[in-house]
Amino acid sequence: MAFEFASCGFRCQGNEWSLFMLLASNFVLNKCTEVNSFTLYPWIHQWTNNTMTADQTQPVQFPDVNPSDLPPTSDFSMAAGDFLEVYQTPDTFDSVVTVFFLDTAHNVIAYIETIYDILKPGGYWVNLGPLLYHYADIENETSIELSFEEVKKVVKKVGFRIQKEEADIPTTYTQNPASMLQYKYHSVKLVCQKPHESDTT
Ligand SMILES: C[S@@+](CC[C@H](N)C(=O)[O-])C[C@H]1O[C@@H](n2cnc3c(N)ncnc32)[C@H](O)[C@@H]1O
Repeated sequence: MAFEFASCGFRCQGNEWSLFMLLASNFVLNKCTEVNSFTLYPWIHQWTNNTMTADQTQPVQFPDVNPSDLPPTSDFSMAAGDFLEVYQTPDTFDSVVTVFFLDTAHNVIAYIETIYDILKPGGYWVNLGPLLYHYADIENETSIELSFEEVKKVVKKVGFRIQKEEADIPTTYTQNPASMLQYKYHSVKLVCQKPHESDTT
């Protein structure tokens, strides 16, 4: 997603905390120089819900675009680390975009507060995703599991103005499109603005 924003000409920084994700993203972004130069078999371990035998051995080629096509003048970076630790400087970003991320929080309120803090006045936060809450039901892990209704209350309380909201957006996530078993989220979208300093009353 961050790469796509950079491809559109925006100065952009992605954030990731998992070493596994960082290794894969580093490989794609910094080591792949030709379209479709590598092949993976993402469903090779899926032994159930295959209609055709070939579904299991379906290859996928990557990258679908050449990451080195990004103009040398573009300003694109990745920041490795926990979102709450990496981003602590107030009034830094014109926009923050979170996709399938809000529910990775131990404390979703802390995420929303941080997003608000790091935005410049007048800046926008765009969010899309479900509320799966990754730490729900994990023993000895803190997990605050707000409904979308409660999330919106927090968003307003923190100071955001909700500009647009949408629910019931059909979305899938990293699944085998040929599988007999399909998960579908009814995701929610929010577009929020941090008010300008002259507009905080
Ligand atoms: C469900 S994925 C969504 C990734 C991407 N936005 C997408 O739509 O495919 C959530 C990502 O957030 C990362 N993550 C979870 N907690 C994080 C944290 N505290 N700081 C930074 N990244 C985190 C996970 O490692 C994972 O790669």
